[in-house]
Amino acid sequence: MKKFLIAPSILSADFARLGEDTAKVLEAGGDVVHFDVMDNHYVPNLTIGPLVCQSLHNYLQKAGINAPIDVHLMVKPVDRLIPDFAAAGASYISFHPEASEHLDRTISLIREHGCKAGLVFNPATSLSYLDYVMDKLDVILLMSVNPGFGGQSFIPGTLDKLRQVRKLIDDSGYDIRLEIDGGVNAENIGEIAAAGADMFVAGSAIFNQPDYRTVIDHMRSELAK
Ligand code: DX5
Ligand code: ZN
Repeated sequence: MKKFLIAPSILSADFARLGEDTAKVLEAGGDVVHFDVMDNHYVPNLTIGPLVCQSLHNYLQKAGINAPIDVHLMVKPVDRLIPDFAAAGASYISFHPEASEHLDRTISLIREHGCKAGLVFNPATSLSYLDYVMDKLDVILLMSVNPGFGGQSFIPGTLDKLRQVRKLIDDSGYDIRLEIDGGVNAENIGEIAAAGADMFVAGSAIFNQPDYRTVIDHMRSELAK
């Protein structure tokens, strides 16, 4: 099993002081910046794009912080944003298969731009999208809420889906991260890890607390059990 990665979702950060708040969560122990991009078309909410990604990337670089940026695209169409996010400092780019006309092409485009490619599954999206692309993926991201908003509750059925994907990854022998996104907190992170996840997105559970380090330390102690 790979090292566990905690990816604070900046959707719940203070957008008026995004650079500072992101630096603060990384200094408190976050490993990866989860960057949620919503277009009011694929999902019913509107967030941030490549310009903000670039500014944030520059801010972190200047502060000497090298955490990877994990761009979660909840947009349709997908492809035309990929070069922009790659140029804006993204390390990972993940997208929803329903939002792309040509799955294989989109994955290739992400990799050609030097980023790690992830495929995202909504709670009711079939895993059959994995059938012909497992060899080209760096990340499989399971949504444990319906995408569009932070602060929702973890859908328990996702645990079974995680176990299925963990087995698929292990049987395949490919080097793929299994990321979980939605309703993750210090109370449930242990059973989510036991079901097979190794990369954990958490937004409201971290940013709604006054002390980020306390929550992240609590998450890590649950992961160490
Ligand atoms: C939801 C986003 C999530 C969200 C998670 O569509 O993809 O990344 O920020 O927020 P919490 O952890 O609050 O469920
Ligand atoms: Zn997300």
